[in-house]
Amino acid sequence: MTWKGRSIVSILDFKRSELEELFQEARIMEEQLSKGKVEKILSDRIVAMAFFEPSTRTRLSFETAAKRLGASVIGFTGEEAISVAKGENLADTIRMLSSYADLIVLRHRYEGAALYASKVSSVPVINGGDGRQHHPTQAMLDLYTVARELGRIDGLVYGVLGDLRYGRAAASFILGLTRFSPRKVYLISPPNLGLRREVRMLVEEQGLPVEEASLEEVVSELDVLYVTRVQKERFPDPEEYERVKGAYRIIPSILEGAKESMIIMHPLPRVDEIDHRVDSTRHARYFKQAAYGIPVRMAILKLVLTG
Ligand code: NCD
Repeated sequence: MTWKGRSIVSILDFKRSELEELFQEARIMEEQLSKGKVEKILSDRIVAMAFFEPSTRTRLSFETAAKRLGASVIGFTGEEAISVAKGENLADTIRMLSSYADLIVLRHRYEGAALYASKVSSVPVINGGDGRQHHPTQAMLDLYTVARELGRIDGLVYGVLGDLRYGRAAASFILGLTRFSPRKVYLISPPNLGLRREVRMLVEEQGLPVEEASLEEVVSELDVLYVTRVQKERFPDPEEYERVKGAYRIIPSILEGAKESMIIMHPLPRVDEIDHRVDSTRHARYFKQAAYGIPVRMAILKLVLTG
């Protein structure tokens, strides 16, 4: 399958070679950005941002990416999705938007919303996060970050720490790793916040070498430590959230036994799971990771809209 005209629903829809093609394109975008000479290849295109759930990075980085390539951007976020409050259903909103724009980036609190939207839309739909399920473009930029910062994705030891039950970014990153050959992927989560059974099964079916562990046990082995926040808004029971919040926190002393080259990633926003003192260590890469979101999303828009 080619990228052109394709909706992006799950990272699992992509083969390794397609991700590598994306990374090559993102590298070219990075170079154009650093020279201040970006070709305005989307100057006749309109990109729609349909954000039914709040977002800072994903929306702003897609908007920035689109505008850097010369596209115009329309859209709404959260309460602005006002006609939905008037009773408009998702299908009608998407049909309408697909007659206005050339591509739709959708974020929604319900799992499956992006897949459904891609079926009713006449233009490609990019999943900017659906409930606790998928966040494929985050996984793409996360994998790109590893490749750029450590020179490869294969053969490394990964630790994914945090709310793996509700965190779509962490789950998508783990699913994305199935397209490569990591040496080991340690799943590090508080009790009750482990990977959901269906995701665990998918990961095992793909033969990813996963293992549950505690951070203290494995920190010295890690090449990449991927951290996520506890996803407060997805807890059905606020008391359950109160019990697990603050269950883990990266402080400088935890990193004493880590490899010098180990990188710490985080899709952001961070709450309190990474102490601010970690920001100035050689390990911190989360702001750089957010910055890579721009060339990666430029590459995505280019490949989907022009091939
Ligand atoms: C993530 C998300 O929305 O799933 N954020 C993001 O897109 N950068 C992670 C999160 O909200 O914790």
